[in-house]
Amino acid sequence: MPNTIQPTQHVKSRRASSAQLSEIVRISEAVRDRRAAGEDILSFGTGEPDFPTPPHVIEAAHEAMLRGETKYPPTQGTKELRTAIARTAPANLDPENVIVSTGAKQVLANAFLATLNPDDEVIVPAPYWTSYADIIEFCEATLVPVSCDASAGFKLSAARLSDAITPKTKWLLLNSPGNPSGALYSLQELSEIADVLRANSHVWVLADEIYEHISYSIFASFLNFAPDLADRTLIVNGVSKAYAMTGWRLGWGIGPVDLIETMTGIQGQSTSGASSISQAAALAALNGPQELLATRLVSFRERRDFVVAALNDAELLECPTPGGAFYVFPSCKAAVGKTTPDGTTITDDAAFCDFLLDHAKVALVPGRAFGLPGHFRLSYAYAKSDLEEGCKRIAAAVGGLY
Ligand SMILES: Cc1ncc(COP(=O)(O)O)c(C=O)c1O
Repeated sequence: MPNTIQPTQHVKSRRASSAQLSEIVRISEAVRDRRAAGEDILSFGTGEPDFPTPPHVIEAAHEAMLRGETKYPPTQGTKELRTAIARTAPANLDPENVIVSTGAKQVLANAFLATLNPDDEVIVPAPYWTSYADIIEFCEATLVPVSCDASAGFKLSAARLSDAITPKTKWLLLNSPGNPSGALYSLQELSEIADVLRANSHVWVLADEIYEHISYSIFASFLNFAPDLADRTLIVNGVSKAYAMTGWRLGWGIGPVDLIETMTGIQGQSTSGASSISQAAALAALNGPQELLATRLVSFRERRDFVVAALNDAELLECPTPGGAFYVFPSCKAAVGKTTPDGTTITDDAAFCDFLLDHAKVALVPGRAFGLPGHFRLSYAYAKSDLEEGCKRIAAAVGGLY
């Protein structure tokens, strides 16, 4: 056994004490332990495409290294990449409006660190991606979750938004297509939300559009149809999901220049510019052939349709059809209160997921991790054969509840 150094005094800051081990990490660790112990676990817990990074992107990274692009890059991102990103936005945007960061997650962290004071409120429709809550808490601001259940399509309505806004509201965080629900806001829904924002000039909108290219119907960037709100909009996007580049850690923000400058200042004192090699790779992804996006979308759609049908065929589960991303977020409410074959009662969604891990050997993430209990998230960015086997196991296990 290696030696572990343990501190003799407690060193954690107050801020760090709030950071908890995420439910998703807890589940991945349980999966790793069980697999190490020889159990055949199928995990549908991770949010990353199963495709490889496109070969031309890998070649571009290799060439960049051979050219010597291995030095500190500009903190805000290379001009070439920011120009390519600016071209993805409407209205001939200046590259000064763009920051490149180490993943979309760092864009979010930069934005919140740059703008949130203690007591500021961030409205986040629930279910939400778990990291939003953690980053907001880390900034000592207040998360204002607004529950948006399946009957609302897991989407925030203009009326609910209006009710949630207070003088302390700093941001509305919108994520479409969304993780974990896959909800895709329609143009009509987004324009109603924009109207509420027009009436509340102190509220900024952070539109996390990282799943933009995994949309099964029309996707519109927030900047596209609410250009008048551009001076208080931050778009977050990146190459992780669209181009299967999660490990390259490359994302970006598009927003007003002074916000981008402040975020760049924060990034400069934490990580500096994103990896020069990843920036060259992202440039190749954006400037290269885009047909793969459509091909991969077809594959995601097939898998979505399969999983939705299989889970709806299972007893006690209800699985809405998501409009985007690669997750389903079915309800397991009808399973709560039922008894497992070994006599335990399913008390909630977390107990339901524990039951499936024990009895079906399938790992899923309970809805409570995303601020909306009574559900679970299944990522279908996995091989069709694993999805078939997984859904079969889930249906058999649920069928054994009484
Ligand atoms: C909604 C959402 N935003 C942002 C991210 C982070 O993306 P990145 O890997 O580029 O940091 C994720 C990753 O799962 C996500 O689901």
